[in-house]
Amino acid sequence: MRRPFVVGNWKMNLNLADAKNLVRRLDHETVGIHNVDRGVAPPALLIIPLRPELQDTRILLGAQNMYHEPKGAFTGEISGPMLVDAGCQFVIIGHSERRQHFGEDGPLLQKKVKAALDIGLDVIYCIGETLQQRDGGETNGILVRQLHEVLIDGLDWKRITIAYEPVWAIGTGRNATQDQAQEAHQHIRLWLKNKYGPDAASQMRIQYGGSVKASNAKELMNMPDIDGALVGGASLVADEFIAIVRAAIPK
Ligand code: 13P
Repeated sequence: MRRPFVVGNWKMNLNLADAKNLVRRLDHETVGIHNVDRGVAPPALLIIPLRPELQDTRILLGAQNMYHEPKGAFTGEISGPMLVDAGCQFVIIGHSERRQHFGEDGPLLQKKVKAALDIGLDVIYCIGETLQQRDGGETNGILVRQLHEVLIDGLDWKRITIAYEPVWAIGTGRNATQDQAQEAHQHIRLWLKNKYGPDAASQMRIQYGGSVKASNAKELMNMPDIDGALVGGASLVADEFIAIVRAAIPK
């Protein structure tokens, strides 16, 4: 049985005071929920000051990105060992905004995923097609390519979560339907089975991301291959985020 995993990817939003209020409410109002993992990925500057707020809570702390080299002359970058030192437990890698705006591609992301796992961070690896690719019937091919070029042999798959985030659904208010999402997740799971075997396919979690909100979370979470959500905009609003965590409670 896969335990659902709901993560708030705050992107470049919130100040420290608002972030503290948000995690306090999230903790307080989900404290009795034991069968849904949840976490937040704040902007990098908020990771260290939020750490004490998250101690003794069930909320995991993560980063939105990292560089694959451990240290050195890489102005503006943050390394895996730094994230571990700051208290992070996981890192998001390959978000479509990183691919689109910062030119991150398969070979780079492969290095990042490996470096993160090697230093002890769990990984949420994001994949997803653009609208043009979906309209062109390329969705499955794109997903397989993004999986294939980054998830190499020998990775500790137990510590990897896949996030399926169709680019056309991110921040647009237009989520994938539960059937569209389920179909993509099923295809991803099939690839995981071929790559890492049946245990990986049955145990690895695949989150859906793209305009998840309180009003559509339940129908998405009800699908058999959807194991939680990677939430952007709605994770900035306490009531929404809390409702999404509740919607992920297994039946
Ligand atoms: P939205 O929930 O704002 O569509 O963002 C999704 C996302 O990109 C999460 O990583």
